[in-house]
Amino acid sequence: MPLTIALLPGDGIGPEVTAEAVRLLQTVADYSGASFQFTTHLIGSAAIDAEGTSLPDRTRDACLAAGAVLLGAVGHPKHDGREPSARPEAGLLALRQALGGFANLRPAICHAPLATRTAFQPDRVRGANLMIVRELLGGLYYGQPRGYTPDGQAAFNTLAYTKAEVERVARVAFDLARKRQRRLASIDKANVLETSRLWRGVVTDLAAEYADVTVEHVHVDACAMRLATSPASFDVMVADNLFGDILSDQAASIAGSLGLLPSATVGGTVDLYEPVHGSAPDIAGKGWANPIGAIASAAMLLRYSAGMEREAAEVERAIEDALAAGARTRDIAGPGEGALSTQEMGQAIHDALIEARERSHSYHAV
Ligand code: IPM
Ligand code: MN
Repeated sequence: MPLTIALLPGDGIGPEVTAEAVRLLQTVADYSGASFQFTTHLIGSAAIDAEGTSLPDRTRDACLAAGAVLLGAVGHPKHDGREPSARPEAGLLALRQALGGFANLRPAICHAPLATRTAFQPDRVRGANLMIVRELLGGLYYGQPRGYTPDGQAAFNTLAYTKAEVERVARVAFDLARKRQRRLASIDKANVLETSRLWRGVVTDLAAEYADVTVEHVHVDACAMRLATSPASFDVMVADNLFGDILSDQAASIAGSLGLLPSATVGGTVDLYEPVHGSAPDIAGKGWANPIGAIASAAMLLRYSAGMEREAAEVERAIEDALAAGARTRDIAGPGEGALSTQEMGQAIHDALIEARERSHSYHAV
């Protein structure tokens, strides 16, 4: 049975980077014998233009019927003046809710060849490899009531969490920590917020069940500072929706570019894969975008939705190999380093993947 993958290229650089991720998945299908069936649907500004809504019912239904969803990016400056509910981003938020995935996994790695390309002193960032688990369906993003007062002189959002919402995402983080370095940092603002006190209490209770995982509670402000000074001191982090959104962009500084970061949203009816970066309208269509975030998201899809751990690791390794061989898009190119286009970077990763396979085959043949 082929795995149906619903593609939502979306806006800006979304289509360019998604195309490279699809090409890589085709390559993996060709050599592994797996079979993927792709369907393409509208979301975001592209959907507003064509159908007047950022998440057409057809798109939502196709995603719910698929085995996995791979999204590019949403957002366009022409909607900047609009209310949140009428913006392209609303389509993504509604899709996340419809799919039901509550745990957004955002790994951030310092790839050794790029350690000198980050804003850090290379020694501080080398070896940094963290996994942010962001709660994705609650908190300020979805809390009710929200809105403006009738006179427009005030606006409000609601921050609310139930124990059950915290527990389910914390469990995902504890389980991931078990497979990694068994260290979990729970991020909150428990010195000020009731929701954070509740959060901390739930994580503390769960810690008894996961005695093999070392847990620390870190205030979000202190966490931002520590991410900027000793990023390698973190393993898995779990945070609410807004804190996780902010900290994951900050964590991109460890990698050197937002264009490198992938994500997977799990725990719902259908899992959703999307790079952490936005639609970057300023560089859309120029072939400058870095496809690694999208390709690494496709690797996460192989791991979590296709049960293809080995192939997922091979794609991740091919990204490392291409970077080690000097492949650079503009966002990560150093002075004097030539930059590849989006397609050329996709090709470089494709070539690294094929080469590594051929090497391992000829090795087994001797
Ligand atoms: C992200 C993005 C989205 C978010 C926007 C586009 C709605 O910033 O995926 O991090 O805030 O969740
Ligand atoms: Mn974000």
